[in-house]
Amino acid sequence: MAFEVTRVRSCYPALVDGYAYLDGAAGTQVPRSVIDAISGAYEAGIGNDGGAFPASERSTAMTAACRAAVADLVGGEPDGVVLGPNMTTLTYRMAAVLADSWREGDEVIVSRLDHDANVRPWVQAARRAGAVVRWAEPDPATGELPAEQYSELVSDRTRLVAVTAASNIIGTRPDVPAITALARAAGALSFVDGVHATPHGPVDVRALGADFYATSAYKWSGPHVGAVIAAPGLLETLRPDKLVPSPDDVPERFELGTPPFADQAGVAAAVDHLAGLDPAATGSRRERVLASMAAAHEHEQRLFGVLLGGLDEMRHVTMYGKAANRTATAYFTVAGMTPWQVAAHLASRKINVWSGDNYAWELTGVLGIRDSGSAVRAGLVHYNDRSEVDRLLEAVAALG
Ligand SMILES: Cc1ncc(COP(=O)(O)O)c(C=O)c1O
Repeated sequence: MAFEVTRVRSCYPALVDGYAYLDGAAGTQVPRSVIDAISGAYEAGIGNDGGAFPASERSTAMTAACRAAVADLVGGEPDGVVLGPNMTTLTYRMAAVLADSWREGDEVIVSRLDHDANVRPWVQAARRAGAVVRWAEPDPATGELPAEQYSELVSDRTRLVAVTAASNIIGTRPDVPAITALARAAGALSFVDGVHATPHGPVDVRALGADFYATSAYKWSGPHVGAVIAAPGLLETLRPDKLVPSPDDVPERFELGTPPFADQAGVAAAVDHLAGLDPAATGSRRERVLASMAAAHEHEQRLFGVLLGGLDEMRHVTMYGKAANRTATAYFTVAGMTPWQVAAHLASRKINVWSGDNYAWELTGVLGIRDSGSAVRAGLVHYNDRSEVDRLLEAVAALG
């Protein structure tokens, strides 16, 4: 069945303002159901958790529902879902606790394909522990991250391999299962950044072989809440810094202070929304999520083909990245203009795109464009449609 993008768009109040929201890779809009869940949580009366009265019980239930929803989205277990403000904060938290056991001469592998949030926390933790950092290199010509190089990089001193499930600028989806298998065979843990990958298709943390998988709800129609998913048994083995009276259970042990309960209700509503993207999907929420995200992926890739085909034909446009397997994320420059000027021109035509390194600091260095303002990023998500792609192509063509 064709993806019902018109119906999907009608769920998002913000999409009626005449702008083409091609900035989804930096954060998506939220559907009415998410807005209602958040405001409904406040309207019903909110309390801190752990109390003897109904408002408190409602908050406790919101956290539980949030964990269950994130687990359904990525194929994890609710007790393995650590919640926090965003991926960056959670990754620093995990780096601190994992590095506690690193010793001088241990090794950590990061990649230059990654967003800096899956690089710097590990590099800085390694420096403090006296561990060695080894770098996986993307191919600048194709944007691929060859998995074979990990056979050379991994050793019996490797403690952690951090790698992205998709580049947030050029979309490359590396062969994560191959990389995590090499890490596991060497006795190392893997930390997979799923922030950019999660909104673009079905996710199964077990199939990825990820010991830790990070995601952020604001990239998939939810509010600003992050999560790291791991096996509860693995979390049990770790002892993060925490307050004495705060819960010592897993996953609460990793969570600091009072959480945003209403936003957590919004996260659960966002997963319900994603599960309904394909109205023909049936079964458990997990099954509906898998079917719906597969349908969203197909829709995005179809549009992406049109976008890439159009940009490729423009002689004044240079494209970056052509990995065989990538998300619907285009990264390009326009001759004679800075990326910021291009983004400003498009904004004047009510088209939202990003310009700059988008924190893919190492990758923009590898591509040799960091010092010139990097490039323009136009990304597609499930609510984008053909008319938005056509508007972008027309506006970029006019710059030639
Ligand atoms: C691939 C990727 N990783 C990590 C991050 C950081 O996520 P957060 O804003 O949740 O810290 C982003 C944000 O854009 C991202 O795209």
